[in-house]
Amino acid sequence: MKQAQFDAVIIGAGGAGLRAALQLAQSNVKVAVVSKVFPTRSHTVAAQGGINAALGNVSEDNWHWHMFDTIKGSDYLGDQDAIEFMCREAVEIVRELEHFGVPFSRLDSGKIYQRPFGGQSQHFGESQATRTCAAADRTGHAILHSLYQQNLQVGTHFFNEHLALDLIKDEQHQIAAIMSLDIQTGEYHLLRANQFLIATGGAGQLFRTNTNAMINTGDGLGMVLRAGLPLMDMEFWQFHPTGVAGKGMLISEGARGEGGVLRNAQGEAFMQRYAPKVKDLASRDVVSRAIAIEIQQGRGCGEHKDYIELDLTHLDPEMIKTRLPGIRDISLTFTGQDPINSPIPIHPSCHYMMGGIPTNLHGQVLTKQDGQMHALPNLYAIGEAACVSVHGANRLGGNSLLDIVVFGREAARHMQQQTQLGSASDLPLQMQQVEQRIHKWQRALSNNASPNNTPLSANINDNADSIYLIKQDLQRIMEQHCGVFRDAPNLAAGLPKLDALAERLNKVGLEDSAQVFNLERVQAFELENLLALGYATLHSALSRQESRGAHSRVDFPERDDQAWLKHTLYFSENHRIDDKPVNLSPLTVDGFKPKPRVY
Ligand code: FUM
Repeated sequence: MKQAQFDAVIIGAGGAGLRAALQLAQSNVKVAVVSKVFPTRSHTVAAQGGINAALGNVSEDNWHWHMFDTIKGSDYLGDQDAIEFMCREAVEIVRELEHFGVPFSRLDSGKIYQRPFGGQSQHFGESQATRTCAAADRTGHAILHSLYQQNLQVGTHFFNEHLALDLIKDEQHQIAAIMSLDIQTGEYHLLRANQFLIATGGAGQLFRTNTNAMINTGDGLGMVLRAGLPLMDMEFWQFHPTGVAGKGMLISEGARGEGGVLRNAQGEAFMQRYAPKVKDLASRDVVSRAIAIEIQQGRGCGEHKDYIELDLTHLDPEMIKTRLPGIRDISLTFTGQDPINSPIPIHPSCHYMMGGIPTNLHGQVLTKQDGQMHALPNLYAIGEAACVSVHGANRLGGNSLLDIVVFGREAARHMQQQTQLGSASDLPLQMQQVEQRIHKWQRALSNNASPNNTPLSANINDNADSIYLIKQDLQRIMEQHCGVFRDAPNLAAGLPKLDALAERLNKVGLEDSAQVFNLERVQAFELENLLALGYATLHSALSRQESRGAHSRVDFPERDDQAWLKHTLYFSENHRIDDKPVNLSPLTVDGFKPKPRVY
């Protein structure tokens, strides 16, 4: 096993991890970034529509309106101190990105181009705002590449194509190291540091139809659960209204921001019935439910009436080519339709995890002991992996790119102060848990070794179980038991199915016997994380007996602020559920009291 020591170790090289790394490396902190993929392949690269900031370049805007919209979008579950912080920082951090070299699209005036997105308003709900700063429909790509280049300039140390396996504690129960697997060589690395930051992104691979990259398997969340720490609000998963039907890839909300309209089989622009004021630009949870209802009630399109159409054919073809080139490309590639001439078949697709690792607004990971919340001194989490919580029960489009850069910078600033104070622990490490996992998959690999290292795909057959088949079943179970609409009997019926998958995962062997570059072993480690998140999601969803944001319980159709204006905390030991109060007190302004949420 190889060993190295740093001041700080960051797990994940998406926009959040890279923004934090840049801050630390610029201040001469010895920082290592551990990334499962080459950094510019991180999932931030897929973010399309843009990043929210009240620049007011197109129409009047104000960070306070952005704050109100985010709180309303969160169905009042978001923590108002963190939301105020994010919305106030937004304007300055977008300018910072511009200076880092992000090639934003431009208005004729030369200012950064902005487009309207769902749930945005002027004057606290009165009229539509235009707040999403965009680089065509490839904004995440532009931001990720700029941040990577900035990191190269300051000499950040990268461990690329390393899968982080576990957080490792010392004898005093402090996080003191992480273990990672070098995917190419098969070697294990022990990285010691003073400070650790988890920025591993989301876990949309938990659901069959999703907009996420294959790498989004919630690795950081699995590590946190195994370290005995909780996850927060795991019942809240965002189903993006416009995934490509039957396939899942994202068709940006920017398409509706630019004037696209959703139509059912009768050609009706049905959103006017669900959100009379803002129609297609209602919050994502509202639009996804509307689509699900249209399909359930027989107004879906196509032979099987199982999708809806996104119509851009009335828009200027030149605008589509310049502002939405990526979604035109996706539509041509995956549906064979040119959106200039034909509507795009769409269906809600799992897009974003509002829950995650609970943190304070400096990114410090929180846990609950003896009835009190505590911040861990040297463990941080940011971005989609974290739950700070700025998105509450439903995230607004354009707020996730904002979240990753604002809290990436803030967490690094906080770590910087701590790093100057602390020094890495040299106490003996508690390695049993990670060693067991490593040995389990090493054994599975040796037991099932095929004679000639045949690749995984060639070995799968109908009689044999495999990591691939278990993952497929997990995704189907989650889709079937925890989709856009939920109820207690269906959620509960999912749990024994997860138990059966856990048993299969204990017994399954690896079909690929390669000792190095064994991607099936990587998938096995990932699947352990996904399965743990499946339990977290079903238990949290069962516990929350109300409907709020993206969590729609048909057996509890109303929001219940009396009983449920609180975050859920899930601990994997005995699948225990606890809770944490929502912070309704912003930093400098009056709080927004929960109101009925209409668009
Ligand atoms: O629809 C989109 O372009 C996605 C943006 C987001 O999730 O923030």
